[in-house]
Amino acid sequence: MATEQLNGTMQNGKAGTDGYLRIVDVRKEFDGFVAVEDTDLSIRKGEIFALLGGSGCGKSTLLRCLGGFEKPTSGKIYLDGQVMNDLPPYERPINMMFQSYALFPHMTVEQNIAFGLKQDGLSKEAIRKRVEEMLALVQLGKLAKRKPHQLSGGQQQRVALARSLAKGPKLLLLDEPMGALDKKLRSQMQLELVNIIETSGVTCVMVTHDQEEAMTMATRIALMDSGRIRQVGTPDEIYESPTSRFAAGFIGSVNMFEGKVEEDMADYVTIVTPALDAAIYVGHGISGFEGQEVSFGVRPEKVNISKEEPTQQYNKARGKIEDIAYFGSHSVFHVRLPSGYKFMANFANQQRWASEGMTWGDEVWVSWGDNEGVVLTS
Ligand SMILES: Nc1ncnc2c1ncn2[C@@H]1O[C@H](COP(=O)(O)OP(=O)(O)OP(=O)(O)O)[C@@H](O)[C@H]1O
Ligand SMILES: [Mg+2]
Repeated sequence: MATEQLNGTMQNGKAGTDGYLRIVDVRKEFDGFVAVEDTDLSIRKGEIFALLGGSGCGKSTLLRCLGGFEKPTSGKIYLDGQVMNDLPPYERPINMMFQSYALFPHMTVEQNIAFGLKQDGLSKEAIRKRVEEMLALVQLGKLAKRKPHQLSGGQQQRVALARSLAKGPKLLLLDEPMGALDKKLRSQMQLELVNIIETSGVTCVMVTHDQEEAMTMATRIALMDSGRIRQVGTPDEIYESPTSRFAAGFIGSVNMFEGKVEEDMADYVTIVTPALDAAIYVGHGISGFEGQEVSFGVRPEKVNISKEEPTQQYNKARGKIEDIAYFGSHSVFHVRLPSGYKFMANFANQQRWASEGMTWGDEVWVSWGDNEGVVLTS
């Protein structure tokens, strides 16, 4: 397909035979309602893999199928070569950390961590050793004798994680792991969680609706929409080379235009859109056809803004600054074009824009390079 040739990115999450965790044609219906459509994913050992998507798209349902809390309507789940489908949750080498952490309030930190090990009938000495390892891993040795209510939200989360990892599961499942934390603590815990998971070496599938969280934590992301996986890739691939309008719009902000292919040459295409006077020129190998309806997307940080007209013939527009949003390290300029389209351009605040004196109501030019955008056909 043109989009894939253009972006050089294929759906690389397809279940091969080499994945540590393989989800093969898994489908989940509730009374005829399809919550998860036939899904194939292959996840490598040691990955932190994120299921990302809006509310109700089926993330938790797919995760719960992995944990054994839901039974797939069809399809198979393999972990380390073993079929999981017929095993109840407690017999799977899998642990799911719940959003509320579900810590036992009357037990100390170390008793919470030891709980599963005791149930498995390990010796006192083996339990003591393992609990010590886990406390070191999550850096809570000093708080071992405290009860959950004497801990901060972040500390409670680390206890829950230590408890989940104590039995050495092959797969760790996290459903909205940051859900109970406030915004500032979230970003700190995201990095701590990644450190702990990577140190333990466990393979992890996490669910989040927060694109920043997925981008920060995951080695790869599966972007979900209405029970379907739309794209699988590294955070970088999904951000730089979205393969659909949905993916481009879901992750980060984007200037998106609907248009038609005007010229289709071997090494470039031009696109005309009612939103812009100048044509869009794309200098990388898309194979479309003349007249084909396409969308073109360019990220705000790839757009230049200037008072002088850029010398290039394509990829530029003149408009009026309507709004400037300040974000500390950068500002986002909203530029209203004569067509009515509102264009977003980021400006790094270490640049000398202030001295150029661009401000509300000014006429400015926005422009971008030949290779800065993506053409999308789906
Ligand atoms: N036990 C159930 N019975 C019937 N429908 C269900 C059941 N569980 C989930 N669903 C439906 O399946 C769809 C997917 O739900 P799911 O919980 O997987 O969404 P999600 O992506 O995790 O959303 P959120 O981000 O809001 O948690 C929803 O429409 C939901 O109403
Ligand atoms: Mg959910």
